[in-house]
Amino acid sequence: MSNELHDMDQAGLQAVADDKGLHLAKVTWVHHWTAGLFSFRIERPSTFRFRSGEFIMIGLLGANGRPLMRAYSIASPSWEEHLEFFSVKVEEGALTSRLQHLKEGDHIFLGKKPTGTLVLDALLPGKTLCMVGTGTGLAPFLSVLRDPETHEKFEKIIVTHTVRQAEELAYRQFLEEEIRADEIFGEMLKDRFTYYPTVTRGEFHRKGRITDLIRDGIFRNEVGVVEEDRGSFRFMLCGSMAFNKDMGALLESNGLVEGSNSEPGTYVMERAFVG
Ligand code: A2P
Repeated sequence: MSNELHDMDQAGLQAVADDKGLHLAKVTWVHHWTAGLFSFRIERPSTFRFRSGEFIMIGLLGANGRPLMRAYSIASPSWEEHLEFFSVKVEEGALTSRLQHLKEGDHIFLGKKPTGTLVLDALLPGKTLCMVGTGTGLAPFLSVLRDPETHEKFEKIIVTHTVRQAEELAYRQFLEEEIRADEIFGEMLKDRFTYYPTVTRGEFHRKGRITDLIRDGIFRNEVGVVEEDRGSFRFMLCGSMAFNKDMGALLESNGLVEGSNSEPGTYVMERAFVG
């Protein structure tokens, strides 16, 4: 039974997608960063619209014949023709244990209702946008960073990424070099963008949790935050539950207020999803 289902052809999968109100989208690119992390892209259905920073349900056909869906932040900006996702590979994860074997040409289910709070609409106007992520929590920031609206609304943009080991700094080359060489974004980001990677357990030039680096004033010194600009910092947080809680508390103790789509604030957060 389950084999038959896993071998279902595209027409069969499309019928399931139609029945459940989902898109069926073709995988166009897969990249494995480490034994535990990978990224992939799918074709973007022409009717699919989202705001940079939002998440969406994606999935595969489950053994029971129904789509097995999990929330994933979209790592590509809203103008891009494809949709990109950044994922962990978890052996015991119902979906990621299977998603990690995706190949170009495979098909996955894609929900039709993107949503989320890591969006510009949920933040009050400010000068510096600081996006603080751990692990795959980097994903929504890769989207927001490449949205032209972000650059219209903020003078400075900082992306921090905290991981256990340096090799888990996925997208490092992109953030350090490629985006700066990009035809459109290179000029936009010049002198305005800081990528701030930190590693907690392995060797690296900057060690420690971002929460500690901020609390100890190291972040402030390295990034060059001037006192009069502190009040115009806006934050987006995305990581584990523990990280969001600690980082949120740190911001609140500095007077920041959590925002939402209906009531914008000075920071927003979302849990990094694990499949
Ligand atoms: P650490 O190695 O000190 O736990 P994980 O893989 O567990 O999701 O963690 C990803 C990164 O986030 C790790 O570098 C981890 O640091 C860091 N991290 C985990 N919890 C917190 C927290 N509460 N505050 C700040 N950083 C955290």
